Amino acid sequence: MSKHLVTLNVNGEDHVLYVDSNERLIDTLRHRIGLRSVKEGCGTGDCGSCTVLLDGRPVLSCLILTVQARDRRITTLEGLGKGDELHPLQEAFIEDHAVQCGYCTPAMILTAKALLDRNPEPSEEEIKEALGGVLCRCTGYYSIIRAVRSAVKKMHGVRRMENER
Ligand code: FES
Ligand code: FES
Repeated sequence: MSKHLVTLNVNGEDHVLYVDSNERLIDTLRHRIGLRSVKEGCGTGDCGSCTVLLDGRPVLSCLILTVQARDRRITTLEGLGKGDELHPLQEAFIEDHAVQCGYCTPAMILTAKALLDRNPEPSEEEIKEALGGVLCRCTGYYSIIRAVRSAVKKMHGVRRMENER
């Protein structure tokens, strides 16, 4: 098995490491860098729980080889807050009881972050569409959608959302 020297920028910090050509990004992040928020569910691209952001876009880290992420910017849940300060999405998920077992939560929050970064005031339909690839077996999704809407309000003081009620 050939080894490759790669640099990964993870949550703003460069990691230089040798990886096998078939090493999956999820394994590098979880087991070699120690980022345990990255969850493995199916391992086959169906559940979304392994989602991380690659250059700001959600990707399934169980389907990506680490060599494909070379020199790219990777964000995991650990990279969202500032010190002890939670990201508004993290606060909203707690306040709106959008976390039960928590297995899907990092992927939900990262996917929502990518949505809000490109569309700061999404409609409920747009939120549903964006989160559609991440499965949650616990919450029934309503509290998750409510949490994303709350985060939008926190982040932008959105008036349009009020008008939709
Ligand atoms: S673990 Fe990657 S999609 Fe399920
Ligand atoms: S909170 Fe348990 S899978 Fe979503």
